[in-house]
Amino acid sequence: MIGVSQCSDDLWRTTMNSEMVREASFYPDMAIEIKTVKDDTRQQIIDVQYFIDQPVDLLIVSPNESATLTPSIEKACQSGIPVILIDRKIDSDTYTAYVGGDNYQLAYELGLYAARVLGGKGEVAVIRGFEGSTADTERYQGFTEALSAYPDVKIVAEARGGFLKEEARKQMEKILETHKEIDLVFAMNDPMALGVHDATIRYSGHRPFIIGIDALYGPGGGIESIEKGLIDASFIYPTGGDKVISLAYQILTGQEYTKENILHTAAVDKTNARVLQLQTSQIVESQLKTDRINELLDTSLIRYANQRTLFYSSLLALALLIAVLLFAARAYRLKSKAHRQLARQNEEIKRQADILKEQKERLETLSAQLEEATHAKLVFFTNISHEFKTPLSLILGPVDSLMAAKNLTGKQHEMLSLVKRNSHRLLFLISEIIEFRRYENGKMNVYFTRNDLTTFLEELTLLFEEYRHRKNVTLSLETDGSDFQLWFDKEKLEKVYFNLLSNAFKYVNESGKIKVTLTTQDQEGEKYAVISVSNTGSYIPGMEQKIYSNAFIK
Ligand code: FRU
Repeated sequence: MIGVSQCSDDLWRTTMNSEMVREASFYPDMAIEIKTVKDDTRQQIIDVQYFIDQPVDLLIVSPNESATLTPSIEKACQSGIPVILIDRKIDSDTYTAYVGGDNYQLAYELGLYAARVLGGKGEVAVIRGFEGSTADTERYQGFTEALSAYPDVKIVAEARGGFLKEEARKQMEKILETHKEIDLVFAMNDPMALGVHDATIRYSGHRPFIIGIDALYGPGGGIESIEKGLIDASFIYPTGGDKVISLAYQILTGQEYTKENILHTAAVDKTNARVLQLQTSQIVESQLKTDRINELLDTSLIRYANQRTLFYSSLLALALLIAVLLFAARAYRLKSKAHRQLARQNEEIKRQADILKEQKERLETLSAQLEEATHAKLVFFTNISHEFKTPLSLILGPVDSLMAAKNLTGKQHEMLSLVKRNSHRLLFLISEIIEFRRYENGKMNVYFTRNDLTTFLEELTLLFEEYRHRKNVTLSLETDGSDFQLWFDKEKLEKVYFNLLSNAFKYVNESGKIKVTLTTQDQEGEKYAVISVSNTGSYIPGMEQKIYSNAFIK
């Protein structure tokens, strides 16, 4: 990576820059970044720092001013970046190499040339370059020292044009106001020489001989200006961009190199301008061809790179496609395998289902048969129960008659009442069985009558008074005071209540408590009477209580 910091922006610099870019294109591993300022030293210091920070591998600088840029160049060298100075120098030797003309020598020869042109006598004006640049100081030194041998050649005016055409024109106009008889003007570069030309054509007086520096070929260059008669002479100040880059390559690749690389100069005037222009135009043409070849090469390289990318992408896509196909084939194989296994499992399940169905059917038949047998047994049982009723009634009739007889002994009466009681008991049990059967067959009838539930329960509870005394327990009946006039089957409810109380008596402890409560409860908008019977002593476990304890009567 090469960084280039140019101090100004004009034809000379653009020519040099394109030479550098062209030359760099011959080195495939070389990249070049050019930063240009317009004679702004402060900005150039910033640009140099930028390249140090990158860091670039090599720095090429044309210092706008020598003193101010010296620390920046030294800093770059100290940080290990080789620095090539071009065209202008700094105030120290801390740089890697220099490429450019010898400004002193060039101006010295130019001075001798001027003296020759003037025939050793005449008035001279000097339009100087950018103050502080070595190009300006060395050119001034070379020129004045050459003229010192010609006492009749006098520098009568000096002005600063800063290497700029417009500034030179203005300065020359000022000079011409006071020095009408100037014979020769030395402008330190061709753009300023052209500015001087523009200033002189406005004056009718005698036209001075104008000499510049650079003598660039091509349109707008010094050689063309001489041919056109705009200026009279110029000294070639070679740009040498190609040389700078090949030197940079030598330094970067560790080859031997020369520190001071002085480019040759030569005078150009009317006598050789035409030949030079012809020769250089051929060079320019071949350079343009090189540029064209370079462009073609670049586009071919881009196309090649694109095609290569396309080729690799296609290759990758193909590989991916193959992978996907392989994957799909494997997935298909696995799927078919799973499918076959599933089919087998399905068949097995179906077979088991058939077996289960068969078993179920067999069980169903069995249970139907069982039900039928049970039913037959029950029917038989009921019928037999009915059959018991008649003989029992027939027993009870004579027993009653016998008990009515007056001549019975106490013992006989007692035995007869035992027969009577047990016969009634048997009759009661048989009617219970018959009723149970009715219930089972869904034929049990309920007979609702409207009664006062409170009185009903009180009366039934009283029947247990005797029993209560015997067992020495407390029996209480509490109501919430509501009106319990409602419809219920007295006989059924009596059985239920008796059952509950009998159980309570069975499980109550000695001197324990039996409590009956009658309350109302709202359930889903309906009003219910709730009878609950509880006792101390052993009791029904919680879970079972939930199932059995609540007797709701609507
Ligand atoms: C270009 C230029 C040239 C001149 C040189 C001096 O920027 O002004 O015309 O010869 O710089 O450094």
